Amino acid sequence: MAIQTQANLIKKFPPYLFAILNAEKLAARKKGVDVIDFGMGNPDSPTPAPIVNKLIEVIQDKKSHRYSTSKGIPPFLKAVSRWYERKYGVLIDAKTEAVSVIGSKEGLAHLGLAVINRGDKVLVPNPTYPIHHYTVLIAGGTLVSVPILPNPEAFMRNIDKAFAKARPKPKILIINFPHNPTTLCVEQEFFKDIVKWAKKNLVMVIHDLAYADIVFDGYKSPSFLATKGAKDIGVEIFTLSKSYNMAGWRVGFAAGNPKVIASLAKIKSYMDYGIFTPIQVAAITALDSPEENLRRLSAVYEERRNIMVDGMNKMGWPIEKPRAAMYLWAKIPERYQKMKAIDFAIKLLKEAEVAVSPGTGFGSLGEGYVRMALVENKDRIRQALRNMKKLF
Ligand SMILES: Cc1ncc(COP(=O)(O)O)c(C=O)c1O
Repeated sequence: MAIQTQANLIKKFPPYLFAILNAEKLAARKKGVDVIDFGMGNPDSPTPAPIVNKLIEVIQDKKSHRYSTSKGIPPFLKAVSRWYERKYGVLIDAKTEAVSVIGSKEGLAHLGLAVINRGDKVLVPNPTYPIHHYTVLIAGGTLVSVPILPNPEAFMRNIDKAFAKARPKPKILIINFPHNPTTLCVEQEFFKDIVKWAKKNLVMVIHDLAYADIVFDGYKSPSFLATKGAKDIGVEIFTLSKSYNMAGWRVGFAAGNPKVIASLAKIKSYMDYGIFTPIQVAAITALDSPEENLRRLSAVYEERRNIMVDGMNKMGWPIEKPRAAMYLWAKIPERYQKMKAIDFAIKLLKEAEVAVSPGTGFGSLGEGYVRMALVENKDRIRQALRNMKKLF
């Protein structure tokens, strides 16, 4: 008899697709290959100095070293409230309608445990950022997969169709716009339709707003909570990882329906002691920082997007310019379309020294696509284009 080393729950999880690619990347690097890495959406620029300086200042205060609060310190939650009002005209009660999360990945994972019962059906886009799927599975719920492409109208119809077919009826819908990995964007009108639909069908909505601030060509990404009635049926979750280059800091928040927020805060109170106080205080500096900084950040990604998309089109790999997020969602080029996404990603790595994410890492309907994160500088993007040209 051997000791039990793995719960049935995680036994069922498929091997993490990105692990295969990471092993390939590591092997290439060991051979001395300078891999140009578009694999992970891990921002390459540093956190702005005022935020770092605030952390340094607060960490010197010995009183800041004790346990924090898992719900978030009141000044952080008040900053969340200011952020919503300034950016979206949304009123959030800092006491009852907001909670801090240790990055939105943690927030989404525990939100699932806080609101999903064993066997509950949950509508989730396919493909999508993996925690949108796994929060359901971790909580013992059942996924109802909803094709998200090619546009928001089709997605809305697919939600309705999937809901009509499902027995028992799904209780929750998870959405994310601008969407990772497809970069699909919506207008406020879409959220109006979602709120109306969700109220009619008694479905709770979780909206992941991770890419709110990485927007191009004048596009403004809407907040779900800015839709009348949204707070009656849903919550929104935001991360500081992307907007302020704070991915390693692990800080974000959820806001919206007070009962859902209370459920998330309750489960978190059993799980963690909150984000380190100096990080929460520095996060206030981030949330209060001028919008101009965000425009500069978007301009960096926009320039990279333009170089990459123009270069790909020129070499015979057709792709449209996304209006938001830090990714390109690229159909595998015609001459390689028989290859699986993972095999094409490995080919790019071996023959062009370029790492991308296979679309299937985000769900079955990601087959036929790869995702490129624009986290390399312009020179390296140009180098990647020169390398990839050999495949055409
Ligand atoms: C859509 C989406 N949600 C959430 C996250 C997780 O962000 P965080 O760093 O806050 O955990 C990511 C990270 O890539 C993401 O793409």
